[in-house]
Amino acid sequence: MDLGIAGRKALVCASSRGLGRACAEALANAGCDVVINGRTAASVNSTVDALTATTHVRVTGVVADVSDPAGQARLLAACPDPDILINNNSGPPLTDFRSLTRQQMLDGVVANMVTAIELTQKVIDPMVQRQFGRIVNITSGTVKMPLAGLDLSSGARAGLTAFLAGVARSVAANNVTINFILPGAFDTDRLRGTLEGSARKQGLDYDLVATQRRNTIPARRFGGPNELGALCAFLCSNHAGFITGQSILIDGGAYPGTF
Ligand SMILES: NC(=O)c1ccc[n+]([C@@H]2O[C@H](COP(=O)([O-])OP(=O)(O)OC[C@H]3O[C@@H](n4cnc5c(N)ncnc54)[C@H](OP(=O)(O)O)[C@@H]3O)[C@@H](O)[C@H]2O)c1
Repeated sequence: MDLGIAGRKALVCASSRGLGRACAEALANAGCDVVINGRTAASVNSTVDALTATTHVRVTGVVADVSDPAGQARLLAACPDPDILINNNSGPPLTDFRSLTRQQMLDGVVANMVTAIELTQKVIDPMVQRQFGRIVNITSGTVKMPLAGLDLSSGARAGLTAFLAGVARSVAANNVTINFILPGAFDTDRLRGTLEGSARKQGLDYDLVATQRRNTIPARRFGGPNELGALCAFLCSNHAGFITGQSILIDGGAYPGTF
């Protein structure tokens, strides 16, 4: 399918690896110029090289912490007035909520709520003027289906979802959409790190813990990042202008509800 977005400019936050990278790759394959981001120069550079080698678009790397205002300024300098903004960031580690300090809670809210709102503030008015804009926020399936220990992540992301719900309606008439992708378990470094930690804690083999986790998912497998990238690119496409303010689960059937 031609997504109709060739030549558009996409700023993809936290995209040197994992789900963000898959979104950047899908957008680059659709013909968008992409800005890649991460805090580690080596992985930003290798992703820029890989996408440059396999696509015909302009791929720019920005080494910056997206949660930091100075990092955000560098991202926007590399991609002034993006047509497409993908808000992504790391999530807080699994922690019993009783042990969270005030500073950890504030940092989590900044990472998973405030940062996406700040970037949205900075890009939305030019999108309205151009009568085209797509903002996709990668949140988590835990926004709908709580997971003990990820309470800070879930709470901050639910806050982001509620905050931007009204904003989405306020710009819908200008062909600017704001949506949320809620991943279940995807095969990325983050998931592998979580499974390794869990295996260590229980004194079990990694493969056994990974199989047990897969078996909790009706699809009996982890998602491939490219599957999420394809969904993201569709939400950014010309065809998706009537979809806004929606939280879209992509989890192999893990969420047990009908609605
Ligand atoms: N994978 C899953 O199963 C899953 C499920 C639900 C929700 N999620 C959420 O989806 C998001 C992405 O997860 P993932 O699995 O793709 O993680 P990942 O494999 O760890 O990749 C994270 C990417 O973000 C970059 N990054 C992290 N913090 C950053 C920051 N402050 N500024 C700029 N770049 C940053 C990382 O590069 P550097 O480390 O070099 O900065 C890396 O490129 C996370 O918020 C995660 O909680 C993931």
